Amino acid sequence: MRLLVLGTAAGGGVPQWNCACAGCAAARADPARRRRRHASIAVEAGPGRWYVVNATPDIGEQIEACPQLHPGPGRRDTPLAGVILTDAELDHTLGIPRLREASGLRIVATGAVRAALSGGLRLDAVLGPYAGVSWAALPEKGLEVLDGGPLEVQGVRVSGKRPRYAADLDAGGEDGWVVALRVRDRRSGRVLVYAPCLAAWPKELDEALSGADCVFFDGTFWDDDEPRRAGFTDRTATRMGHLPITGPGGTAGRLAELPAARRLYTHLNNTNPLVDPDDAGHRRLAAAGIEVAREGALIEL
Ligand code: MLT
Ligand code: MN
Ligand code: ZN
Repeated sequence: MRLLVLGTAAGGGVPQWNCACAGCAAARADPARRRRRHASIAVEAGPGRWYVVNATPDIGEQIEACPQLHPGPGRRDTPLAGVILTDAELDHTLGIPRLREASGLRIVATGAVRAALSGGLRLDAVLGPYAGVSWAALPEKGLEVLDGGPLEVQGVRVSGKRPRYAADLDAGGEDGWVVALRVRDRRSGRVLVYAPCLAAWPKELDEALSGADCVFFDGTFWDDDEPRRAGFTDRTATRMGHLPITGPGGTAGRLAELPAARRLYTHLNNTNPLVDPDDAGHRRLAAAGIEVAREGALIEL
């Protein structure tokens, strides 16, 4: 299995357009080292066929930054086979309308995420006259085989947090609002888990992580109090739907114990000290065998 790291930032990116904090200012001054695009990866479903996991507002630039995703050989041929969604948050879905030039768009999502995009954002209606959308279910029980194999995907529910725009939406009883994505390659048996938004660590996640060869984890906040200290909310990281990296309830300690070959944090908020590549936190994580995902990396499992 091959995957590409397209972006590693939480909503807003780094720099965020309306933010003058130290981290965002430093990213403006030194974009080559410090800019981070919205969190996303691409997985190769077949030779030269890639699914993006979450379609971010940066998707156009993310495609241009990766030769594997460039169009060709025909004028409108694209290796982009579709989009898999872990949730319906705007930072993970606003890239979908940017793909309207496609001849058709395949979206793999849970029922709740589909309800949010169809009923809340009205994406079916908006995109219908451009690229028609075809939906495939991201199952929480059982597996969806992508394009006939070899990749099989599954959603593991990690939160019931709805996007704010869908707070009152009638989702027809669907409630798989946020999932971790588990991808298994039937040929090699290799397993990837992609979990950028983790409000809790249910036992189903432990099952999904067992035997995983590579895991991407919610690295939004370094510690639970960070969002309150930063002054943009009175809620803790956990209350905002993101388990912190360190401190009580932190994920780094548990990640360090995983046998997974690679453990990477992604979805970093611009308040997270790790957005500074020289921050001591990187060395602390490295000592536990954990990395912060690097944009542009091609990972082969
Ligand atoms: C999140 O990761 O919690 C969401 O992206 C927040 C938001 O966009 O409001
Ligand atoms: Mn987010
Ligand atoms: Zn900022």
